[in-house]
Amino acid sequence: MNSWKLLMASTITIAASIAAANEDAKLSIEGLDIPVRVSVQSHTPEIDEVRSGWTFRKSETQDLQRDDFDNPAFVFVDQGIDLFDKIDGTAGKSCSSCHSDMNSFKGLRASMPRIANGQIETMEDLVNGCRTERMGAESWKWSSKNMTAVTALIGLESRGMPIKVKMDGDAAEFWQKGKDVYYARVGQLDMSCANCHEENYGNMIRADHLSQGQINGFPTYRLKNAKLNSIHARFKGCMKNIRATPYKEGGPEFRALELYLASRGNGLSVETPSVRN
Ligand code: HEC
Ligand code: HEC
Repeated sequence: MNSWKLLMASTITIAASIAAANEDAKLSIEGLDIPVRVSVQSHTPEIDEVRSGWTFRKSETQDLQRDDFDNPAFVFVDQGIDLFDKIDGTAGKSCSSCHSDMNSFKGLRASMPRIANGQIETMEDLVNGCRTERMGAESWKWSSKNMTAVTALIGLESRGMPIKVKMDGDAAEFWQKGKDVYYARVGQLDMSCANCHEENYGNMIRADHLSQGQINGFPTYRLKNAKLNSIHARFKGCMKNIRATPYKEGGPEFRALELYLASRGNGLSVETPSVRN
């Protein structure tokens, strides 16, 4: 992948990396070592190594994620704590009325999304399920400030734990659907997720160093829009960039894609909340 590559029929130029990132850096947060490069698995033979998006970022961005005090995402995690304790809805309860110990969420993020009642269940579903069915409160929008603050708080409990989503059995059908979406060429630029994140990771696209598009660090704080970004919002952004009509957040395509992408990151660690460009 060292040669200049001009993608035909597109206005997007992908060029060899100019070594802007410290790709061999090691990630350790608050004394916890987090593996950012792990061996490939049998279902991702097309890549050399499974790598966290963190390894592709500039050292200054990498540093922000090394220290929770410097990590801007923690402003939102704090808001998540307040929301967790806030009474809302007709039942007069807060999340903490029933979930008094955040520790009980340990490991949850590493296994999401999962299959429940024959459907893909995401972290957003769990939060909204409790809000509507157990609190008598309104559901939160998929990528809203409240939702991402609370999913970041819950995800943080699993930080450093290896991603291990189920791909077989009742998950198989959804996994295959997600894979189909990943490899489908769409939009005016006629590109697939794989064109950038599988065939060209490590190369530069405009000023951006292309990663493998892993989702182990979500919700992620983006310096670009200075807030937490959900997984589906990122999918949407990438689809817009290739001038495709994005699928709906929370819709069947993005749910399946989330499951498939999570499986491509099996073995990487939960980095929630991560920092990206
Ligand atoms: C009236 C009690 C109650 C309230 C209030 C409540 N939950 Fe729950 N929640 C439950 C029960 C019961 C379950 C299912 C059993 C379990 O996994 O703990 C659950 C499950 C969950 C799960 C999945 C846990 C797992 O390991 O599968 C998450 C995440 C969750 N709740 C988040 C929230 C959040 C966030 C709020 C506030 C917005 C909230 N809950 C409010 C009772 C409640
Ligand atoms: C034209 C190239 C291109 C295509 C096609 C593309 N993306 Fe991206 N994507 C990017 C760039 C650039 C970034 C930001 C730098 C990076 O992490 O690669 C990004 C970032 C991401 C991230 C964030 C990674 C992290 O570590 O936080 C995810 C997830 C992602 N893309 C998923 C997708 C999915 C799913 C598709 C297909 C629907 C897709 N992308 C299609 C260019 C692309």
